Amino acid sequence: MKDAQPKAIFLKDYQTPNFWITETKLTFDLHETYADVISELVMERNVSDYPNGNDPLVLDGQCLELKSVALDGVVLAEDAYSTTAEDLTIPNLPNAFVLTVVTRIKPQENTALEGLYKSSKMFCTQCEAEGFRRITYYLDRPDVMSIFETTVMADKARYPVLLSNGNLVAEKSLADGRHLTTWHDPHKKPCYLFALVAGDLSCIEDSFTTMSGEEVALKIFVEPQNIDKCDYAMDSLKRSMKWDEEVYGREYDLNIFNIVAVDDFNMGAMENKSLNIFNSSCVLANPETATDTAYQRIEAVVAHEYFHNWSGNRVTCRDWFQLSLKEGFTVFRDAEFSADMGSRTVKRIEDATLLRTVQFAEDAGPMAHPIRPESFIEISNFYTVTIYEKGAEIVRMIHNLLGTEKFRAGSDLYFQRHDGQAVTTDEFVKAMEDASGIDLTLFRNWYRQAGTPEVHVFDAYDEDAQTYTLTLKQSCPATPESSDKEPFHIPIAIGLLDASGRELPLQLSEGGEFNENDKVIGLREREEAFVFENVPQRPTPSLLRGFSAPVKLHFPYSRDQLLFLMGHDTDGFNRWDAGQTLATNIILELAENVKSQIPLTLDERLVTVFSDLLTASVEQGAEALDKAMVANMLTLPSVAYLMEQQSPAFVHALYSAREFVKTELARQLEGLFAQVYQANKLDGDYQPHPDHMARRALKSLCLDYLMDSGNPAHIERAESQFINSNNMTDQSAALRALVNSGDTEVATSALDRFYQQWKHDPLVVNQWLSIQAASDKLCGLEQVKTLMQHDVFDWKNPNKVRAVVSVFAGQNFRHFHGEQGAGYQWLADIVIKVDGLNPQIASRLVGPLTKWKRLAPENGQWMKFALEKIQKHNKLSKDVYEVVSKTLVN
Ligand code: BES
Ligand code: ZN
Repeated sequence: MKDAQPKAIFLKDYQTPNFWITETKLTFDLHETYADVISELVMERNVSDYPNGNDPLVLDGQCLELKSVALDGVVLAEDAYSTTAEDLTIPNLPNAFVLTVVTRIKPQENTALEGLYKSSKMFCTQCEAEGFRRITYYLDRPDVMSIFETTVMADKARYPVLLSNGNLVAEKSLADGRHLTTWHDPHKKPCYLFALVAGDLSCIEDSFTTMSGEEVALKIFVEPQNIDKCDYAMDSLKRSMKWDEEVYGREYDLNIFNIVAVDDFNMGAMENKSLNIFNSSCVLANPETATDTAYQRIEAVVAHEYFHNWSGNRVTCRDWFQLSLKEGFTVFRDAEFSADMGSRTVKRIEDATLLRTVQFAEDAGPMAHPIRPESFIEISNFYTVTIYEKGAEIVRMIHNLLGTEKFRAGSDLYFQRHDGQAVTTDEFVKAMEDASGIDLTLFRNWYRQAGTPEVHVFDAYDEDAQTYTLTLKQSCPATPESSDKEPFHIPIAIGLLDASGRELPLQLSEGGEFNENDKVIGLREREEAFVFENVPQRPTPSLLRGFSAPVKLHFPYSRDQLLFLMGHDTDGFNRWDAGQTLATNIILELAENVKSQIPLTLDERLVTVFSDLLTASVEQGAEALDKAMVANMLTLPSVAYLMEQQSPAFVHALYSAREFVKTELARQLEGLFAQVYQANKLDGDYQPHPDHMARRALKSLCLDYLMDSGNPAHIERAESQFINSNNMTDQSAALRALVNSGDTEVATSALDRFYQQWKHDPLVVNQWLSIQAASDKLCGLEQVKTLMQHDVFDWKNPNKVRAVVSVFAGQNFRHFHGEQGAGYQWLADIVIKVDGLNPQIASRLVGPLTKWKRLAPENGQWMKFALEKIQKHNKLSKDVYEVVSKTLVN
C-alpha cells in the first residue's frame, strides 16, 4: 500500500475495454539475475462499443522496468507515453496498430509468487488473477482474449525443458549453450491463462483418445527425484477426461496436455491452457509418502483443473466479480466426479462440514460477500469458500431443481452459446432457464445476497384430519453490504418416518411448490405452510436431506428423536447429521457446565449409540456397513464447528467439554475401539481404493480414541503401527497418536525417528511439522516458535508457512487462544513479516483473527488488539489492508 488508501472497485462500474488485443507474441530471454520480455501486441480500438473513441491506451503493469515502446516498428520518444507504478499510458493512437514493449523483470527476487518467479531451480508463472501485469504491460482483464505465441530462450544445460501454452512449433539451439522453443496456442484466451515453465525436469508420458478419436499426449513434469510419484495424478487425469466426456459431453481440444509440479505455489493448482501448474502437494504421491487424504486431494485437484478447460477456459469470466461462474461451477463438477469415484454420501458429508464450519462463518463475519460480490479492493482476497463452496452449492441447487437431464441440456446450451466468450453468472443462469423452461427469477437472489438463510420449521399433527403440517419460516441476518434481504428460493428435501422407521408416502394437499419425485419442498416466501394428507400417525420429519440447500435449518428435535433418526433415516446424510446434532447438543450443554464449574457427566445415550455403531461394525463384517460412514458417525463435531453454534463462543469451555466427551467415550468403550481397530487392519500392498481408505480412516479414528482411554498399553499398539506400516496413512496416524499420547518421551522419540526417516522429502516434512503444530498436548506457543527456527522451516514457501502457522492457529485451539492473547500477537507479527514477502499468503493468515466479534470478550478483545497491531504497520499490502480494515469496521 502506498500513502493513499487503496480504493475499492465496483461491479456497477464495469465497462468494456476501449482496445482489443487480437494477437500476443511474447519472447522471454531468461537469465540468472533477470529476464527480458519482448511483447508484440496486435491491437485495435473497440469501435463497436465506442464509435468515436479517442481515449489513450492504459496498460496494466507492476514491478516492471520499461526498456522501450515502439508503435508499428518505430520506437517512441519518452514523452510520447507515461508510466506510473501501476500502468503505462499511450495517447494519440490509431485504430489499429502493433505495439512492441520491452521490459525487464527479476523473477529471482519475486517472493509474491505472482507473475514469473523461480521455484527451487525452475522458472514458472502464476498469472491468475492479476499476475500477468508483473510480466509485461497488458490489458490484464479476463474479457480481453488473444491468440498467444510464446518463445522461451534459456541456458540449455540448466533449463533443458522449456514449455508454454498450446503446441510446440519451433525448437532451436542458440549460441553460448542456449536454446529456444516456440509455442502457439490456437485458442484465444485471457492473459490469466498464460503459462511458462523452464527447468531441468523429468516427465512421465501417457495418452488419451477422445470420444471423437483424437489422441492427446499427456505429460506430467516433475523434478527428477520425484519421477516415481506421478502415477496417481496421471490416472486421475485420464479418469477426469473420460468422466467429462460421459457426464458433460465435453472433449479435450488440443493434442497436448501438460502438468508441471512446483514446490512454491500460493494455491493448490492452476488451469493454464494445456499447461497446468500444480503445487507439488497436489501431484506427488506414492504409498510410502502420501496419505489417503493427499491421494483424494490429488484426484480432486487434477479433475478440477482439467474441468476448467471448458468451465473457465473455453467459456471464461467477463470480469473478476464473475469468479464463481468458473469456480463454483467447476467445484460442483469436481465434487460430482469425486462422488462418482468414491462414496457419494461421504463426499456430501465432507462438503457440508466444510461449508457449515468455514463458509457459514465467513458469511456471518466481516468479510461476508455474495457469490457475485459488488466490490473488492484486492481480488486475491475473493478466492473464498463463499465463491467456491457456496458457489458450488448454488449450481447444485440448480441441478436439483432442473433434474439431471435438463441440467445437462442447460450446460450444453451454455457451452455452445458462449464458446470463446467472456461472460457473467447471469448468462449461466439464463442458459439453464432457456434449456429447461424453468423460471429462476427468484432463485437469482442467491447470487446477489450474502448471508446464510435460517429456516425455522414447526410441525403440527391433526389426528382427526390425519394431516401433518410443516410451517417454514425463512430469514437472513444482516451482512456488511445489506441488512434488508429478499427471501430466497430454498429447495428442502424431506421425508416423514413412522414409528417403526418406515418412510410414509407424501401427499401434499395445500401449500406451495412440491416436487413429488424427489420429495422436495420449494420454499419461496418468508413463511409457508405445507399440509400433508393421509398421515396415519405423528411422524418424525427428516429435513434438508442430502443437505439440499446451504441454510441453517432449525427443528426442535428431542434427543430421542435424533437417536431415532440416526438409527432409521433412509437418507445417509441425515443419519450422520442427526448424530452430529445430538453430539453438538450434548457438548454445548456441557460447555455451560464447564463455565459454571458444575461437574460433568455424559448423557448415557451417546455412549449407547456409539457402542451400537462399533458393535454393528465388527459383527456385520467388512462389507455390510460402510466403514467410511461409521468413521464419520464416530467423529465428534470440531471445535471450529462448535464455535459457530455458540454465541458468543467460549473456546476453552467448548474445547474442555469436547475433550471430556471424547475421553469418556474412549474410557467406556475402550474394548470396542480396540476390536474395531483390529478388525480393520489390512494385509498386503497399499491401494488407494475407497474401501481401503475407509478402513484405514476407521482404524485411525479408533487409535485416536484409544490414546484418550488412559490405558498406556495402547501406546505399544501405536508404536507397532508406526514401525510396521507400509504406507504413510498408517505411519502418520501412528505418529499423531504417539505425539498425542500424553507421554512426552514417547512423542519426541517418535518425532525424531520420523524426521530421520523422511528429512529428504519436503512434503513428508510438512506433515511432520503439521502434526506437531496441531498437537495441544505437545505444542504450546513456545514450542511452535521453536519449530519455526528449525532448518526445514522456510518463510518463503507457502506450504511450510501453512503447515505450521495456519495449522497452529486453526487447529490448536487450546494454545492459540491461550493466555492473554499471546497467540494472537504472535500471529500478528507473522502476518506483518510474511506480508513483506507474499501478500496473498499473509492475507490468508489473518483469517483466524476475523472471528473476534463472535468470541467471548476474554478472547475477542485480545484479537482486536492483534488486528490493530497489524493495522498500525505502515507498509501493508492491499491484500492485508482490506481484510484487517474490514474486520475492524464490520
Ligand atoms: N484458478 C484456481 C487457482 C488460482 C486461484 C490461482 C487464485 C491463483 C489465484 C484453481 O482452479 C483452483 O481453484 N484451485 C483450487 C483447488 C480446487 C480443487 C478447488 C486451489 O488452488 O485451492
Ligand atoms: Zn478453480
